[in-house]
Amino acid sequence: MPERNEAFMKQIKLGLIGAGERGANCYAPYALKFPSEVKFVCVAEPLADRRNTFGKTHRIADEDRYEDWKDMIGKGYELDGVIIATQDRQHYEPAMAAIQAGLNVLLEKPMAETAEKTKAIVEAAKEKGVLLMVCHVLRHTPFFQSVKETLDSGVIGEVKSIHHIENIGYWHFAHSYVRGNWRNTEETTPMIVAKCSHDTDIFNFLLGGKKCERISSFGSLSYFTRANMPEHATKNCMEGCPHNKTCLYSAYNYLDDREMRQNFRDIVMRTDDREAFLTHLKESPYSRCVYQCDNDAADHQVVSMVYEDGVTVSWQASAFTMDIKRQTKIMGTKGELEGSIDEDQYVVRDFATGNETTIKIHTPRTLHSGGDECIMRNFTQALLNPDKESRRFGAELSLQGHVMAFAAEYSRKHDGEVVVL
Ligand SMILES: NC(=O)c1ccc[n+]([C@@H]2O[C@H](COP(=O)([O-])OP(=O)(O)OC[C@H]3O[C@@H](n4cnc5c(N)ncnc54)[C@H](O)[C@@H]3O)[C@@H](O)[C@H]2O)c1
Repeated sequence: MPERNEAFMKQIKLGLIGAGERGANCYAPYALKFPSEVKFVCVAEPLADRRNTFGKTHRIADEDRYEDWKDMIGKGYELDGVIIATQDRQHYEPAMAAIQAGLNVLLEKPMAETAEKTKAIVEAAKEKGVLLMVCHVLRHTPFFQSVKETLDSGVIGEVKSIHHIENIGYWHFAHSYVRGNWRNTEETTPMIVAKCSHDTDIFNFLLGGKKCERISSFGSLSYFTRANMPEHATKNCMEGCPHNKTCLYSAYNYLDDREMRQNFRDIVMRTDDREAFLTHLKESPYSRCVYQCDNDAADHQVVSMVYEDGVTVSWQASAFTMDIKRQTKIMGTKGELEGSIDEDQYVVRDFATGNETTIKIHTPRTLHSGGDECIMRNFTQALLNPDKESRRFGAELSLQGHVMAFAAEYSRKHDGEVVVL
């Protein structure tokens, strides 16, 4: 039996907008694991199979399943909160409508596709007095909670600089940022906003809300372009491309057994039927030649940041890595801390004694190093007392991280111009 969280006195009633990968598969399973804490009572999702699968799994009556969030919000359900997990450019409208309807919201990141719209959402929530929490799941993980406690304990002294590397993973990058949902900034948001607003959020969290004052960035789309296309490559790997046996990015590689393929294979289609998978893959964007897509997401990028009191942060992201891994090194006046959330441990080195202590984190084997489950727990707990919890979980800090990410993208597009925040 799953453990019950004793803090819960009543069952929280939620609505879901967007029963896709995140909404249905990352957050909603919490309601199945802890049914006495939380229940989804309505869902909005235009794709009938997703809507009905979700409806059946969560025992939502047919009349409480909607094709569009507009119909669901207008119905006046007595919800404790709503989760908005539509695509990046489909957040602003439902978020504003939900807030205006007086609903507490858990909103996927990025909150919106521009800094202005992002600020407007946060302002609206403040004015309306509703809880707005953003799915910055990393901040909620046992790993970063532990790192924060260690920093706050003072063992490494005053933090002077942070170096953070986001190894995106070559296969992940090709899937999401060349072929998939985040490939084209006109249709979605820039890579640094979509993916790395998590990282700017983490810096702000670890630095205790210190403000970033200046930011600059370089980077480009350098590799996944027509200039690097091998001769005679077909537009779709599955149209007899002569390079399938040697190309790192052949769509047929979705079928190999390496663990890193599994998640992305499931995103293409969840099935054990190989033939059905291949038929779907051929029709999907995920079999397109990576050198002939309509992509413009930067495949490597660096950002330099200066915070209050001169604290510096350097961050870099790259498509060209084997693993999908975040690595963090934090340098203080008395010691340093170094580790990776994806390896569930970090070390603390003490300058005075020369001692090195390894801190191992016991992370639940769920997505995002436990972050998806932790944010659901925190959201549902906060809904028991949204006024009080707005301060702890509200979107103010998230807003700061978003503004930084938009500023970094501006700087990247303007040859590294320093943006004063
Ligand atoms: N927090 C994280 O760690 C994290 C990780 C990955 C993605 N994301 C973000 O989560 C969001 C969702 O990503 P995803 O991979 O789940 O996308 P997805 O495309 O799988 O899901 C979005 C769903 O919204 C539905 N939708 C579209 N219009 C709608 C409408 N009018 N009403 C209701 N539903 C509608 C779509 O049909 C789709 O099923 C994105 O903004 C993405 O950037 C966050």
